This record gives sequence, C-alpha cells and structure tokens, in this order.
Amino acid sequence: MAFPPETSNPETSESGRARVDPISAQPYFHRTESRIAVAGHPIHAMLVTFPIALTMCTLGADGFYWWTGDSFWARAALWASGMAFLFGLAAGLAGTVELLLVPGIRARAASWTHFILAVMLLSILGANWGYRLTGYEEAVLPWGLLLSALAAGFTAVTGWHGGKLVFDYQIGTSRNGKG
Ligand code: HEM
Repeated sequence: MAFPPETSNPETSESGRARVDPISAQPYFHRTESRIAVAGHPIHAMLVTFPIALTMCTLGADGFYWWTGDSFWARAALWASGMAFLFGLAAGLAGTVELLLVPGIRARAASWTHFILAVMLLSILGANWGYRLTGYEEAVLPWGLLLSALAAGFTAVTGWHGGKLVFDYQIGTSRNGKG
C-alpha cells in the first residue's frame, strides 16, 4: 500500500489541489430547522401519520375482504387507499417545500434518499387507488392485495427513513429549546 510522503502538505491533496472541508464549505449545513411549520412544529411530521395509518388500513381491509368475501371491506379499502394517496400527496408537498427551502436539509444526501423513496411510495399508492376505481371489488384479489402489501412495505421503509432524518440528523428540530 502506498502512503503519502511525510513531507506532503496537509492543505493540498496528492494532485496538488487545495483540500476543502465539506462542512465549512457549506456554512448553512447546520441550518436544519423546519420552515413549513405551525408554531415551530413541522407540518410534514403531522401529515405523514395519515398516509402511514391509511396504507396499513387498506392492507387490513383487503385481508378481511379475502377472508370474509364481504363487499364492505372492498369499499373500505377503496376509501382508505384513496385517502392514503391524497394525504400522502399533501405530506409530500410539505416535505418537498421544506427540502427545497431549508439549506441544511437540501445539503444532506439522506434527505434526497428519503425524497426518492417517498416518490416511489406515492406512485404505488396512486396505482393502488386508481386500479380500484375501475371496479373496487374485483380489484382486490389478487392485485389490489399485492399492491397494498407492497405499499405497506414501502411505507415502513420510508417512514423509518424519515425518522432517521429527525433522530440521527436532527432535521426539522428546534435547536434553541425555546419552542
Ligand atoms: C415526497 C417527498 C417527501 C419529502 C421531500 C420528505 C421530506 C422529509 C423531511 C425534510 C423530513 C424531516 C422532518 C421535517 O423537516 O419535516 C421528513 C420526515 C419524515 N417523513 Fe418525509 N418526505 C416526503 C414524503 C414522505 C412520505 C410520503 C412519508 C410517508 C411514509 C414520509 C414519512 C416521514 C416520516 C415518518 C418522517 C419523520 C417525522 C418525525 O418523526 O418527526 N415522508 N420527511
């Protein structure tokens, strides 16, 4: 393995170019406070509870339809999937504005990973609802149920990753402790 000579300048790389500290190069790196908020509480975090819960409800209603054959559950799944999609869009809009407006959020790769996961999730939620609009009872077995299972898996991953943004990177949190 080749080591740099001891006389090498720590201010420059081996190619002779000046080294740049990525943190000090972005003075706004630690500016991650939420801007899309009500009294300092992020709207995105409040809204995401709806698509998360409604996506799980859709999967549950599909399961009950499969088990009982009662059309009530297919109708419940139609409404739950529609509301999951629409609330998901609203949550996604609040999250996207936050991502674009707050420089410390924009600067982190993890924020963009969450964005990509979320957009994939929203397209699955949209497909799950749209497919049911063509005939909500026939749609459940098997494709509606499979789409619901896929959506539930994606919701778990996206939601977990959103929590990572907050708990690991303190994104959307208040730093002054004054609220
Ligand atoms: C479509 C674009 C989306 C963007 C750009 C986005 C961005 C963000 C950002 C910046 C945060 C940090 C907290 C904040 O500043 O509000 C966050 C947190 C979070 N996101 Fe998203 N998000 C999107 C969609 C979604 C969707 C569809 C879900 C649903 C599963 C979701 C689930 C979460 C969760 C659970 C948190 C943690 C909230 C907390 O614990 O306070 N996000 N997201």
